Amino acid sequence: MTATAIPHPLTTRRNELPTWWRNAVVYQIYPRSFADANGDGVGDVAGIRGRLNYLAALGIDAIWISPWFPSPMKDAGYDVSNYRDIEPVFGTLGEADAMIAEAHALGIKVIIDIVPNHTSDQHIFFIEALAAEPGTPARDRYIFRPGRGTEGELPPNDWQSTFGGPAWTRTTHPDGTPGEWYLHLFTPEQPDVNWDNADIKAEFETTLRFWFDRGVDGFRIDVAHGLVKDSNLPDLDGIEFPFAEGTPDEINHPHWDQPGIHDIFRSWRTIADQYSPARAFCGEVWVGRAHRLAAYLRADELHTAFNFDFLMAPWLPATLRTVIDATRSTHAAVGAPPTWVLGNHDVCRPVSRYARDQHDSKPMDRLLSHFRGRPADFEVGLRRARAAALLMLALPGSAYIYEGEELGLPEVEDLPAEAMQDPVFFQTHGTDPGRDGCRVPPPWTDRPESNFGFSAEPTAAPWLPQPADWGRYAASVQEGRDGSTLELYRAALAIRAAHPGLGEGEFTWLETGPDVLAFARGDGLECWTNFGTAAVPLPAHTKVLLSSGPLTTDGWLPADATVWLQA
Ligand code: NOJ
Repeated sequence: MTATAIPHPLTTRRNELPTWWRNAVVYQIYPRSFADANGDGVGDVAGIRGRLNYLAALGIDAIWISPWFPSPMKDAGYDVSNYRDIEPVFGTLGEADAMIAEAHALGIKVIIDIVPNHTSDQHIFFIEALAAEPGTPARDRYIFRPGRGTEGELPPNDWQSTFGGPAWTRTTHPDGTPGEWYLHLFTPEQPDVNWDNADIKAEFETTLRFWFDRGVDGFRIDVAHGLVKDSNLPDLDGIEFPFAEGTPDEINHPHWDQPGIHDIFRSWRTIADQYSPARAFCGEVWVGRAHRLAAYLRADELHTAFNFDFLMAPWLPATLRTVIDATRSTHAAVGAPPTWVLGNHDVCRPVSRYARDQHDSKPMDRLLSHFRGRPADFEVGLRRARAAALLMLALPGSAYIYEGEELGLPEVEDLPAEAMQDPVFFQTHGTDPGRDGCRVPPPWTDRPESNFGFSAEPTAAPWLPQPADWGRYAASVQEGRDGSTLELYRAALAIRAAHPGLGEGEFTWLETGPDVLAFARGDGLECWTNFGTAAVPLPAHTKVLLSSGPLTTDGWLPADATVWLQA
């Protein structure tokens, strides 16, 4: 398994297709944590630019950059105070332009994040809204309501913030007396906007055009299922979301997956289609019912959405097979390509999830709070994460890799309380450790004395502390080392770009025992994964293209391993 020094020619060709998003491998960059070029301990745009060659050599088709806009950073950038500029800590618009141009020259598409459910409380719209009287146009851009109770002292309804605590905060008049309440489904510094308001629609359409005009190839849409609220703002009365499959369509949650959302995405699609090549969307859509997810992926709405069912599935063959089948049929019904994802900046890293007892986890378990403290075998976790990566990259559709996954990074589970940054930790009064453990800057080198190569300034302290043994996962250590996780990813992506059977296309399950999942793709490619505890024999083949770990001396597939065969 050797490194490819430049992007594979087919990658470039595929990226030139207008439908590049149908089978792209997208690498997620969390800008605070990726690479720090100006030496302040926080990653930045110039840092991303400086690592584009690494990404080209990895062989990905596109990068998705989590929010890089001006932000007070109450939720690490998902609290945007200006959608059409770059956060000064991250750099300048000029640096973003240069980075986009250079990525394009390397054959890499650039997707950025848009956060349309809420703004920062420091956005000019919210500053104006707070300064305005109740009932004014400035207040209509958000969701303000009088409180309940004799003095308005109770929140307008019982909605809860996703991060813990009530979803309403009461305002204070200039004379100190209490006023209306405003809605925030996340932190109080992230007020939800009112999507019935024309200024809000215009603000986001202008933002889409602003970045499309600068060459951005697409957007990942934050909380895409949350934009529209039931205007009566009814109490939840304990109703649980997502709804079970089979729940009638007339039943809607008051603030998730409201039917009115689709009009917004239809108008966004019209804008994306005005560009050449057409720009693409990937929605963060958390909804239970499969046909409701498919509704977002109709031909005149979003191009793709994250497959959280796959991400949340435990390392169990029957569960994964069910998820793969359901994903394929749901997406086929609307002609959208499936996507596959194992991790992101919100969930416990796959190595650490898979290190735990898999029979123990419920479908929604994806957070560190669930796994922390449970017995773990990280060698097993890494073996499974590598096997899962090959399984994912062999499936039809597009795939997402979260930065550091290609290094086999585990979750950092022992960050001290004083290092914590995530509002989840604070809003739950420390009962939930939050998401900082998957956001620790990755090790580029094995030198702890210089922040493992994260920052151009060796003495800079990274915004989250790195573990003392981080160097064993360093990119510099894994580069060129046969069998390393980095080289496994490089080899997999090079094969994926070159093999006509991979990406979108044919898919057929092969008959196996209960501990194995195997499927054939086009042009003789077969993918076999062993979930059992004993090695299994492989079928006749002409070549082993790649395996996530060494085969046994008899050429059998060991436990927790995936192999790609040329049949
Ligand atoms: C989803 C994002 O992925 C997460 O990081 C953020 O906290 C929430 N949306 C709120 O914007």
